[in-house]
Amino acid sequence: MRAVIMSRVGDVSVLEEREVDYPRLEAGDVLIKVRGCGLCYRDTLARRGYMRAKIPVIPGHEVSGEIVEVGDNVLGLSRGDLVSSLIYVYDPRSSECREDSENICRGNMWIGEDLDGCYAEYIKLPYWILDKIGDPGETRPEAYSFAACVIGTIIRALKTLGEAKRGEYVLVTGASGGVGIHAVQVAKSLGLKVIAVTRSEEKAKLIKGYGVDEVIVYRDKFSEDVRKYTDGRGPDIVVETVGGPTLDQSLRAVSRGGRVLVIGNVDPKPQQVMLGLIILKEIRVLGVLNSTHRELREAIRLLREGLIKPVYKTIPLDVNYIREAHQILESGGAFGRFIITP
Ligand SMILES: NC(=O)c1ccc[n+]([C@@H]2O[C@H](COP(=O)([O-])OP(=O)(O)OC[C@H]3O[C@@H](n4cnc5c(N)ncnc54)[C@H](OP(=O)(O)O)[C@@H]3O)[C@@H](O)[C@H]2O)c1
Ligand SMILES: [Zn+2]
Repeated sequence: MRAVIMSRVGDVSVLEEREVDYPRLEAGDVLIKVRGCGLCYRDTLARRGYMRAKIPVIPGHEVSGEIVEVGDNVLGLSRGDLVSSLIYVYDPRSSECREDSENICRGNMWIGEDLDGCYAEYIKLPYWILDKIGDPGETRPEAYSFAACVIGTIIRALKTLGEAKRGEYVLVTGASGGVGIHAVQVAKSLGLKVIAVTRSEEKAKLIKGYGVDEVIVYRDKFSEDVRKYTDGRGPDIVVETVGGPTLDQSLRAVSRGGRVLVIGNVDPKPQQVMLGLIILKEIRVLGVLNSTHRELREAIRLLREGLIKPVYKTIPLDVNYIREAHQILESGGAFGRFIITP
């Protein structure tokens, strides 16, 4: 089958197109014909050596597709089913691996890093990390590729960990990105008032089309502007999708007793944090590691019911397109997701 592999760590030239063997199923596995494989900023971190991926590896962890073969001992899924996947494989028999926190189990194997991923025509995955996305006649199966990593993660951030309440103010940083533009929409679906920040006037115009209450275009600082829109109090919640470059401003903007939900960090170097801000304002800073089954199912429902408009561009399974998409992600130029549709 055709695949794009990462043969070593480095710049985009380490992504190479190859003919590789079909995956061999083991008990519990299904073979999936990839219909959508989302390109995540995390892929660029893995490519640059920050995620300790096995080498060589087929990258890509945001996958949806059609089951074309079913291995032994598979329960609840059959050929022809359309499915979306969690982005890691957990051990369902481990006593440590609890429901609703399977994302943080020790020993989880990350797809596209520890295991081969979806920059390929086919992928094998164990049945227990998959959920059905609806009818086989679904016209946009590719849109469900990022249900877990993007929408499920935002649900975990806002609902499960952040305990967002209707009417609260939320600030979304990196609002044009794959995570950001969907965070704006999930927040609106929860009845929150959304302030988005972006560095680009052009992207600001596009973001306005997704129901945001205010968009702030900034160069270095945004905390004072954000506070103006919240009667000087600051937002109750920040969804931090950028990390290092914006965290200081987010801590300054957020209200006293507020929550800062850290989903992303585009700069993996160690960062400096003003601990005084966290202490004096009693800010709760919460890390968010992707989603669990419960959140994946909710993400699928939001997509299926049209409550979230998936924002993406499709590209072919072609190394030149994939290299270019990696470069756009790395330069902070993306709007929504790129999805490979092999
Ligand atoms: N916790 C999790 O489970 C999880 C899940 C998915 C992704 N992530 C992480 O979340 C982050 C975002 O991922 P993504 O796939 O949404 O990436 P993306 O599509 O590239 O979006 C990131 C956005 O951040 C802004 N940005 C980028 N570089 C910046 C910089 N140097 N300074 C300020 N703003 C910058 C840009 O928005 P503007 O141009 O609008 O400012 C960009 O569109 C990544 O770190 C990724 O690894 C984490
Ligand atoms: Zn992802």
